[in-house]
Amino acid sequence: MERVGFIGLGLMGKPMAKNLLRHGFKMAVFNRSKAPMEELASLGATPCGSSKEVAESSECVITMLPDEKAVEQVLLGRGGVLEGLAPGCVVVDMSTVSPGFSREMARRVEEKGGEMLDAPVSGSTMAAEQGALTIMVGGKPEIFEKIRPVFEAMGKNIYYMGGAGMGSFTKLCNQVAVSLNLLGVCETLMVAAKAGLDLRKVIEVISTGAGGSWQLSTLGPRMVMRDFRPGFKVKHLRKDLRILRETTESLGLCLPGVALVSELVKTLDEMGHGENGTQALVEVLEKLCNIRIG
Ligand SMILES: NC(=O)c1ccc[n+]([C@@H]2O[C@H](COP(=O)([O-])OP(=O)(O)OC[C@H]3O[C@@H](n4cnc5c(N)ncnc54)[C@H](OP(=O)(O)O)[C@@H]3O)[C@@H](O)[C@H]2O)c1
Repeated sequence: MERVGFIGLGLMGKPMAKNLLRHGFKMAVFNRSKAPMEELASLGATPCGSSKEVAESSECVITMLPDEKAVEQVLLGRGGVLEGLAPGCVVVDMSTVSPGFSREMARRVEEKGGEMLDAPVSGSTMAAEQGALTIMVGGKPEIFEKIRPVFEAMGKNIYYMGGAGMGSFTKLCNQVAVSLNLLGVCETLMVAAKAGLDLRKVIEVISTGAGGSWQLSTLGPRMVMRDFRPGFKVKHLRKDLRILRETTESLGLCLPGVALVSELVKTLDEMGHGENGTQALVEVLEKLCNIRIG
């Protein structure tokens, strides 16, 4: 496995593709806007005119795209991956999508003689830059083993979770923990602010004990600084929560925490924060509590 294609060079995709280049993979890349392709080209990747062109020159094609609509367009649309897919080529979708969608894409790729893995990630842009992502993979175990060196160039914790769609299912579980944790951090800061405590010190103290978390120690200080630059965009969390609600409702689950945080994130997006980082959720809580922190 030497020739790897990468489609979707955004906040996550660009650093992931750079790590593959660093590990010596020969790369073909495509993105909707040109600037990130040019940056990758200056590091040795081959920029392509379409997703089809990427597939034609790759043994493995990775997609890291915003949502299901974009993945469907890139895989099945005109000039898409399936038009250029060589037999045996492995498509690896690392975007966050629903498990049902992952299974349907795997069926369409296999129909064309290719193989597919769903391999969403956790760990933010910092982990993407450091090649330290957590990667959760669904698909055939022998295809997972074949692609393992590609995953190892981008991630530190790589897990095989079961058949097609099970990587995406694991990612949905992750998003339950992430979103409720995020809300917990916002509410913690509301109480601390009202009590007149030093917010940075509160974050430091809680981080050393049982209430500590990545969301608290990484996003808490950004909330206090009102630094809403995106690592993980609000619009993507809204999309993940929509998928989560649809999927869990179809399973007959009742998840009140997910329902609550979905409404708050929807409000945040509609307040104009879609392109900001998820730490901006603190602004919704500030409105509800009539406090301004930081
Ligand atoms: N950011 C995180 O911390 C994080 C963590 C885990 C998982 N995720 C998930 O990973 C995925 C990507 O996230 P991200 O933060 O990297 O998103 P992003 O910054 O919005 O990047 C998406 C990239 O896809 C490109 N794109 C969109 N439609 C395309 C198309 N039809 N053809 C080719 N390229 C297209 C965009 O191009 P343009 O340059 O033209 O916009 C952009 O470069 C999402 O599913 C997200 O939920 C994100």
